[in-house]
Amino acid sequence: MPMTTDRNTRTQEQAEDVPLRVRGLVAGYGTRKILDGVDVEVPREEIRVILGGSGSGKSTFLRNVMGLEQPWAGSVELFGKPVDWSQGRPPDDSYKRIGVLFQAGALISSLTVEQNVALPLRIHNPGLSDALLRELAWIKLKQVRMEEAGDKMPGELSGGMRKRAGLARALATDPELLFCDEPSAGLDPVTSRSLDDLLLELRETLGITMVVITHELDSIKALADKVTYLSQGKIIFEGTLDEAAHGPQEVQDFLDRTPPDGDGKDEGVMAFNLED
Ligand SMILES: Nc1ncnc2c1ncn2[C@@H]1O[C@H](COP(=O)(O)OP(=O)(O)OP(=O)(O)O)[C@@H](O)[C@H]1O
Ligand SMILES: [Mg+2]
Repeated sequence: MPMTTDRNTRTQEQAEDVPLRVRGLVAGYGTRKILDGVDVEVPREEIRVILGGSGSGKSTFLRNVMGLEQPWAGSVELFGKPVDWSQGRPPDDSYKRIGVLFQAGALISSLTVEQNVALPLRIHNPGLSDALLRELAWIKLKQVRMEEAGDKMPGELSGGMRKRAGLARALATDPELLFCDEPSAGLDPVTSRSLDDLLLELRETLGITMVVITHELDSIKALADKVTYLSQGKIIFEGTLDEAAHGPQEVQDFLDRTPPDGDGKDEGVMAFNLED
């Protein structure tokens, strides 16, 4: 193989090794700056957990990376290619290669679970027949062990099942990079645990890279290869949980806090989330 081709191939492969690369992200609402120069790189097959107090800008980070908000400055690269969401969908297929699990599943209540799961497929592949869409949706539901619930309406599902259905929909386009905003919010500890196990299984079997926002200590411990901690618009810590034990005091305090008593539900900590 000629050397230049070889080098180009290698460069693209290296770029692909980092599904998400964010540099100098500045973002906010109106005139209020929320993120002030954030750099994040998530290598392939890593589960990165984004931490920070309520209002620190975790969801804002996700919204800007996914093009739901326009960054004020900085760059976002998906799979080694810069994306500019302001021009609409990126010209390549990078948007098909990402999936998102919204808080509470964010299912469309007037569609069955199966129709919800098929929706992104229908949007991305208008030519697919209804029969094939059903089949593909069923495969995704099976992946999250929800194949029995395809004909149900979202309103008939428990909180945990809604999350699974949302996950099936997020997986519909076979994303290589999955964003999850507070996946276990509002779930009891056992259901939350099984959702974490499912995410780990998906990483193991499909090699999906994940960026997960959660403040649940059990989930952080179960999922995080590394954590990125946001405070006052900046990243004040990035590393493993072991390293965090010697990290800044704010990070240590966050991780040392005693889990709240009771039913494991969140109390007022999620003022804003992706689906708001
Ligand atoms: N659409 C919006 N318009 C105006 N301000 C917003 C909007 N969304 C979020 N904010 C503000 O931006 C700040 C960061 O919000 P963000 O939702 O990113 O925080 P967060 O870290 O996800 O918090 P939480 O842990 O509570 O979910 C907050 O002060 C919030 O009030
Ligand atoms: Mg949030």
